[in-house]
Amino acid sequence: MIDRTTAMQLLETAKKVRRNAYAPYSKYHVGAALLAKNGKVYVGCNVENASFGATNCAERTALFTAIADGVRDFEAIAITGGLADTLDEGILPCGICCQVLSEFCTKDFPVILANADSYRILTLGELFPHSFSSENLS
Ligand code: THU
Repeated sequence: MIDRTTAMQLLETAKKVRRNAYAPYSKYHVGAALLAKNGKVYVGCNVENASFGATNCAERTALFTAIADGVRDFEAIAITGGLADTLDEGILPCGICCQVLSEFCTKDFPVILANADSYRILTLGELFPHSFSSENLS
């Protein structure tokens, strides 16, 4: 599990990177901060596109950056977002992001979700109990 201080720090980082979100179409701005086991933090924001399907979510932006940096072991992810300047208290990672996270993270991986003043933590297994995995391909 993740301690409160670390969770709050990660959320602050997610809130900061959220300012860089490029979301002119949905106006829903998301920031993510992914803590690696080596202590490094990888950030991501959503990057939308006029061809909507080309949009990349904040969580995947952060994860792909970590993978490109040669890092594959993760401790936790913090996610914050909402329409324009508001904070969506019910924010949840989308199914595609959960599937992508499940490639590298176990079911007990903590997903920290921002509330207005605090946060809640769900595990990846709670959010996405049945992922498609390499076992399906063997
Ligand atoms: N979005 C994320 O970045 N992460 C999620 O898990 C949910 C959705 C983005 C994608 C799109 O730019 C906007 O939020 C509205 O769907």
